[in-house]
Amino acid sequence: MKLLFIGDIVGEPGRHVIREAVPRIKKRESIDVVVANCENAAGGSGLTPEIADELFRYGVNILTSGDHIWKRKEIVDVLDVNPYILRPLNYPPNVPGNGSCVYKTEDGLQIGVINLVGRVFMEAVDCPFRGGMAEVEKLRKRTQIILVDIHAEATSEKIALSYYLDGLVSAICGTHTHVPTADEKVTANGTAYITDVGMTGPHKSVIGRKPEQIITRFITQLPTRFQMAEEDLRLQGAIIDIDEKTGKANSIKRVEEKVG
Ligand SMILES: [Fe+2]
Ligand SMILES: [Fe+2]
Repeated sequence: MKLLFIGDIVGEPGRHVIREAVPRIKKRESIDVVVANCENAAGGSGLTPEIADELFRYGVNILTSGDHIWKRKEIVDVLDVNPYILRPLNYPPNVPGNGSCVYKTEDGLQIGVINLVGRVFMEAVDCPFRGGMAEVEKLRKRTQIILVDIHAEATSEKIALSYYLDGLVSAICGTHTHVPTADEKVTANGTAYITDVGMTGPHKSVIGRKPEQIITRFITQLPTRFQMAEEDLRLQGAIIDIDEKTGKANSIKRVEEKVG
């Protein structure tokens, strides 16, 4: 099974990249399932039901998210209804939505997806390690093919999680920083790992926003309106080849696709 995992889609420019790049990557690489982090898809922060539909139309099968998923109120009810739009699992009990799902591909293969959020330099949510392990044990009763999106700021937290879940899942892909790391690997126990896959959107930017306003914010420390950047459109992500019988990863490679 070949899985395409796509880093944080940022605003309208990011959606444009998805529309252009996903169909051609799917065809070129014979992709079976596409998972994308959508937490910044609506104007750079959050998700709306219409934008979720748009991303599914372009060929994304499962949407993961992160700390920004709650920014647009209109999506909250949808999180309880659509099993393929995930919010991070490790929020307190009874928060709307789901932190994991099992998706069936056209070929009848079942893939489990778990969305976790870190808590170093982030909100004080529940433990991603304990919550993640419990969910992995639950999903492994249904399928050996499991992907974890660890949406976190600190590289150390993501790397520690990769050792904690090593050999129990097919792949662990990091998101949230919008900057890809060069540490992709498959461990001896068959888990593919990358600390961050990067961002899908305008790369002439500070993590998707116009640099001038971000500089002003850093210099003045005053609240500043951040506008979406528009130039240098790229998709960033990773393609993971998974042995569907064992759930072990064969390979992981980074992808970067420029869009005109
Ligand atoms: Fe993000
Ligand atoms: Fe985030």
